[in-house]
Amino acid sequence: MCGIVGILGRHQVAPIILEALRRLEYRGYDSAGIATVNESRLDRRRALGKLVNLSDLLVHDPLPGKAGIGHTRWATHGAPTVANAHPHRAGRVAVVHNGIIENFRTLRAELAQVGLAHESDTDTETIALLTRYYMDQGMAPQQAAFATLDRLEGAFALAFLFQGEDDLMIGARQGSPLAVGHGEGEMYLGSDALALAPLTDRITYLEEGDRVVITRAGAQITDAQGRRANRPLTRVALDQAMVDKAGHRHFMAKEIAEQPAVLGAALGFHTSPEKTALALPEGLNFTSTDRLVLVACGTGHYAAQVAKYWFESLAGLPVETDIASEFRYRQPVLGARMSAVFISQSGETADTLAALRHVQGAVAQTVGVVNVPTSSIAREADIALPILAGPEISVASTKAFTAQLMVLLLMALKAGQDRGHLDAGAVAGHLATLQRLPGLMRAALDREGEIADLAQGLGGVNHALFLGRGPMFPLAAEAALKLKELSYIHAEGYASGELKHGPIALIDEMMPVVVLAPRDALFAKTVSNMQEVLARQGRVVLVSDRAGLAEAGPVPESLVMPQVPDLLAPFVYAVPAQLLAYHAALVRGTDVDQPRNLAKSVTVE
Ligand code: AGP
Repeated sequence: MCGIVGILGRHQVAPIILEALRRLEYRGYDSAGIATVNESRLDRRRALGKLVNLSDLLVHDPLPGKAGIGHTRWATHGAPTVANAHPHRAGRVAVVHNGIIENFRTLRAELAQVGLAHESDTDTETIALLTRYYMDQGMAPQQAAFATLDRLEGAFALAFLFQGEDDLMIGARQGSPLAVGHGEGEMYLGSDALALAPLTDRITYLEEGDRVVITRAGAQITDAQGRRANRPLTRVALDQAMVDKAGHRHFMAKEIAEQPAVLGAALGFHTSPEKTALALPEGLNFTSTDRLVLVACGTGHYAAQVAKYWFESLAGLPVETDIASEFRYRQPVLGARMSAVFISQSGETADTLAALRHVQGAVAQTVGVVNVPTSSIAREADIALPILAGPEISVASTKAFTAQLMVLLLMALKAGQDRGHLDAGAVAGHLATLQRLPGLMRAALDREGEIADLAQGLGGVNHALFLGRGPMFPLAAEAALKLKELSYIHAEGYASGELKHGPIALIDEMMPVVVLAPRDALFAKTVSNMQEVLARQGRVVLVSDRAGLAEAGPVPESLVMPQVPDLLAPFVYAVPAQLLAYHAALVRGTDVDQPRNLAKSVTVE
């Protein structure tokens, strides 16, 4: 995913665009660039890597102008190079783009035939060249941009800027989010409201297929059929504190620490004031549901796999989980008695959004479990359930994961209630257990010192295994994902009982094996699996409670966790998983909030 910004301002825009791009850098940071219109000129500056490089370039080579567009890139077509960095320019037009143009090769060939050759490997340059072609044919800028948009297939959020047009910007949205910001004598375009927060809280979200012609006087929107569209102007209150590090060294550290408060807020929002009954949307009903599918990517998928245990044990509801990029291609068996849940922090992940669209109309209800209530998945699902985690800036998802678990668990309780598996008293009992969660999360956070010590031992390793049983198995997979994406150590999460069926061949004294095992009904079996590792000189790290550590006997390394009810274990044991990865990243010196090759949400398939 990339981040795009456009500003028709009253002052020099390059520094303001740079600040807006900083708020979008979590979306991708392979390269960045800005183009501005200044009197009769259309100029641009582009730099490889993080925004700081573009900022340095602008110090030495300023970019004047009160109209501009900017971009921070997560490379899809073409390696991260300056030549492939946006904005792309052709003749009198410059363009920034988030998405993928699926027919760009066809268009490239057409343009080559009329002598318009590409300088880059990107699909975005094709957009600029095609617009130039139409302008060379005599079309005015808006007409040329619209003619270009008519030819594009795929996903795009676009901003166009034209030489000699200091009061014109054109935007378009198809498959990738785009918002219009309304200022005082200024107008803006941005990939999300976060980017525009310092400039305005008055936001208009474009819908699928919308195009917008912007001047400083305002915006004119047309819909996918070319009709004038009046989209609502909303006020988006984004507290500055929500997007600062609040004294933490990294956003990830802040977001891990926020979890007790986040989970308390999510629980409070979705339950009655007395906290003894659920308060989920009326429309969310499982009475006529006899099958459930949970679809997501990455961390969301592991939350889904944990939730599978809850829906089946609490509601007797059969559950399939699937990664979104596979789901719709396997021709899933849908039906009127199936409900489909799509879990996405950003609400914009292309694979998950496409999976949602695949089932619309073919299942009883679609539910979006999202952190961004204005996102595409939130708006297109029948029911949107906010996880209320607040902006999650760090690319590695932490508080969103446990907030997803909270909402999914409450949904499982609702399913149990609707299907007669849980009476009001049983639901109240589980909610009372959930009331203990913020305190237990804080107790787990208090172990950070020991966890940091454990992480020291990961500095020199290249591989690691995480083991778990029951809901701790997907948690082990999530722990492995955290370690991979933060420290670049190869890691896998495995069912403890599965180790002996092959992976145990990996075990040697260099292979840390982290066992996530509260002392629950499966603990004794996990201890047996752990002994199999110890017998082969494996480096076991047992994460358990005092009773578990006492029962397990001597282990090379361990971490004591608070004793927790089984229902709460996936939440509480997520904390050592997250902190271990965080501190391993510090040991390895990787970029905690923006690990290499990643983006916060991938809005391309
Ligand atoms: C999680 O730490 C990763 N950054 C990634 O797997 C993420 O969970 C995935 O891309 C899905 O994003 P979403 O929740 O915004 O859909």
